[in-house]
Amino acid sequence: MGPNQKESVGLQPPNEWKLEQGLDPAQLGLRNQSNLVIHTESQPVTATNSAELRPDADDDDPAFVVGEERKGWKGYVEWEEYPEKKAKARKRFSRHKFPPPPEFQLGPVPATNPVLEGVRWKLWHKAIGGALSNVPEDSWKTVLEEKHPGMLHLLQFPYNGEPPKGLLTKEAITPNDLHFVRNHGGIPDIDPVEFDLRLDGLVNEPRVLTLDDLKNEALFPRTSMLVTIQCSGTRRVEQIGEYAGEGDEMINAPWAEGAIGTAKWTGVSLKKIIKYCGGLKGDAKHLELYGAETYFKGGDCMNYVVSVPWSKVKANEVLLAWEMNDKPLPKIHGFPLRAVVMGYIGARSVKWLYRVKAIENPSRAPVQSREYLYFQQQYGKHNQLPTLGIQIQEMPVSSAIMSPWHKEIVVHNGHIEVTGWAYSGGGRWPERVEVSSDGGWAWYAVPIENLSPKHKYAWRTWSASIPCDHEGWTELVVRCWDNSLNTQPMNVRHSWNWGLHVTSSCHRVKIYSVNASRPETKKRLEQFEQHGENFLPITRPTEFKYMSAEEYEKAWSTMEPRDVDN
Ligand code: MTE
Repeated sequence: MGPNQKESVGLQPPNEWKLEQGLDPAQLGLRNQSNLVIHTESQPVTATNSAELRPDADDDDPAFVVGEERKGWKGYVEWEEYPEKKAKARKRFSRHKFPPPPEFQLGPVPATNPVLEGVRWKLWHKAIGGALSNVPEDSWKTVLEEKHPGMLHLLQFPYNGEPPKGLLTKEAITPNDLHFVRNHGGIPDIDPVEFDLRLDGLVNEPRVLTLDDLKNEALFPRTSMLVTIQCSGTRRVEQIGEYAGEGDEMINAPWAEGAIGTAKWTGVSLKKIIKYCGGLKGDAKHLELYGAETYFKGGDCMNYVVSVPWSKVKANEVLLAWEMNDKPLPKIHGFPLRAVVMGYIGARSVKWLYRVKAIENPSRAPVQSREYLYFQQQYGKHNQLPTLGIQIQEMPVSSAIMSPWHKEIVVHNGHIEVTGWAYSGGGRWPERVEVSSDGGWAWYAVPIENLSPKHKYAWRTWSASIPCDHEGWTELVVRCWDNSLNTQPMNVRHSWNWGLHVTSSCHRVKIYSVNASRPETKKRLEQFEQHGENFLPITRPTEFKYMSAEEYEKAWSTMEPRDVDN
């Protein structure tokens, strides 16, 4: 029996009924049916916005001040080159006790914008101090300067934000200020004149290239590509709504359908640059990409590091870009240089890229080796060894409905207007998009003229007018078939995984259908108008009757009676 499950009915808490019905899961206790002793009485946690110094904290080294690595590179602290600096930061970090992350999966999601603040992430930066002290404030200023005022700020710091549904698919190419942002740390502010890119590791001729070198078309041919970047967290909110998962405010930002965007990226293929470095040495099979900001993981400070296989680079599918939609990269999207890895999870498209290192095996850095893992359903919180999850690379086929919205009442004339996006990773593209208005029995193809043009590495936006005969609650569902005829699992349960990644199941939107093409419905809607009756909420009983007594009698006079005598 857990602390909330009292055997005596006399002692039940006032919210007992809600608890029994699973309507307040954040408050539920534990039902321990094993023979293990499991403690559930945690220390009462007061919601605090500050870090406490541990009473038994080791002495700090006051001479340890985190400085910026290079002139003109604000917000860049080098960690990977200096293990002793990492050790000192770890020690300073461990002197503090930080507040726990907020519970937003089992409890209600805050109805604020920013939705979550990222208190702990701010405190971590303050605790290390020095060059990191003002990173949270500076980054937020950049958000306000560079992003559209309508952005939904899921997490203020590190900044994670998506455009509202009404704007996401308005244009097939996402305007820069509406492109989603997914950050693991602050936003560096790098002077392009002082910037250079280092290429080292297992390359035959290590080099350092300035932006001018990269832009020199006598050295490297310039390429522009339309590419969709999708975060593996896209549509995570559906998994959270059904079954919560890995619970960290940043790892698990409650993304909806907007963690995806499409831009024309301009730069050079990384393959050409590696060639300029004399190619790879014999054993090199992967390229490690370094991003300049500081990332915190398990009490360690590090730079943002992932890797991509050489085969991907060799296929010209990794672009190093300095322009987004014909404009200089915004700071928030990686200025002055970022990687764009086509058809892969967004996590590999490293922003503020300052180093490319050729290595033998996939990067052992935590973002590559311990995050973005897709566990199957026998692996959960207590047995998720990082080697048991699939490292997510190519994104599967997926799609989403942008309008109508979940739980909206839709009054229509027999057809519902639906809009959305469809995408497939790995160099595949949407061939057909289908929408159902009855939960997934009958599917109607989106007319091809209503799909935005095909591109190998980009989404297609779409709109369609879908027949809907019935009245009452129904589910609009979308699925996409890509050019390899892959399609999507039918239900979110089929894609649930502990890390809440890659919600590739058919997107389902419950709506209440009011079909005004039916004479009775139309008449009733007109009566609402005549009586000055408010249409919403639909659950409220209406005062005026559907039929007068006379109309009722008249109808029965033309029908057989309800019961028969013989
Ligand atoms: N690069 C760095 N340096 N730091 C980051 O936090 N986030 C990655 C990737 N590149 C990240 C990064 C993730 S998880 C995604 S989904 C994409 O950037 C998002 O790119 P965007 O913010 O330009 O939309």
